[in-house]
Amino acid sequence: MSGVTLHQGAPVLEACGIGFSYAGKPVLTGIDLVVRPREIVCLLGASGCGKSTLLKVLAGLSNAGDGERRFLGEPMSGPHPRSALVFQQAGLLPWLDVAGNIGFGLDFKHQPALPAEQRRRRVAQAIEAVGLGEHARAFPAQLSGGMAQRVAIARALARQPALLFADEPFSALDAITRAEMQVLLTELVQRWHTAVLLVTHDIDEAILTADRILLMSGSPGRILHEWEVPIPRPRDADPQAFAELKLDILAALRQHHANLPQTASSENNNETRTSLDHVR
Ligand SMILES: Nc1ncnc2c1ncn2[C@@H]1O[C@H](COP(=O)(O)OP(=O)(O)OP(=O)(O)O)[C@@H](O)[C@H]1O
Ligand SMILES: [Mg+2]
Repeated sequence: MSGVTLHQGAPVLEACGIGFSYAGKPVLTGIDLVVRPREIVCLLGASGCGKSTLLKVLAGLSNAGDGERRFLGEPMSGPHPRSALVFQQAGLLPWLDVAGNIGFGLDFKHQPALPAEQRRRRVAQAIEAVGLGEHARAFPAQLSGGMAQRVAIARALARQPALLFADEPFSALDAITRAEMQVLLTELVQRWHTAVLLVTHDIDEAILTADRILLMSGSPGRILHEWEVPIPRPRDADPQAFAELKLDILAALRQHHANLPQTASSENNNETRTSLDHVR
């Protein structure tokens, strides 16, 4: 697979000065970000730093308290028809089979209605793309966790999104399935011409998948640092470049911690961990 991709063209998503509060408590502040066509951007940060809140605001599921959001150049007032979402849980409807669940993603009110034949074709293409061609008539109870998550991704792809918002979509999966899904995601981005904004608290996952990594910190959530990932794919074929970037990310966290009050920085400073759950 090719390594470095140039992401050109008008941004799919632009956000400027995003702020958000829950009941008067600031959760996000001063967030600027851009996602370009076919780009995978990872929001990396510890539990509670505001990743999901930011994703919901950027996807138009929550109104931003402050700031501006544009999707394909237009100001956003809610979820855009060219966007789609994937969460940690597949959220399949148990009474619909795989094809039915994927087709269901095309029936939302804000989605332009499709002629039946086009709808059928889109569903079939999405099922093939995630490798579930044999299972189109299976029901959710008959699927493994990895297969269910493939259905969730297919449901999103069938909408032909310009941008896929994904909130820890692989974190409930075992390590092997998770690695397969990370590869699948990067391949789908190339084939389906979608961009992805991927939330994760796993540094390895961010380095394996992202074109750009945005490191978030919390209280209130903001972007600490940004990296372009110039390592050719597959990323694990270059362990030295992988390790160097990982050390860079850990160094940025250490620097951030050094600037925090002692109580927050003195706990759990084991640098070999790859999950950021221990970092605030
Ligand atoms: N509905 C809510 N009402 C009040 N506070 C909330 C609500 N949802 C989230 N919060 C708070 O906002 C902050 C950010 O939460 P958020 O879920 O965005 O974090 P996160 O980075 O996605 O965490 P995780 O990695 O655990 O999913 C946390 O302090 C959380 O307690
Ligand atoms: Mg979250």
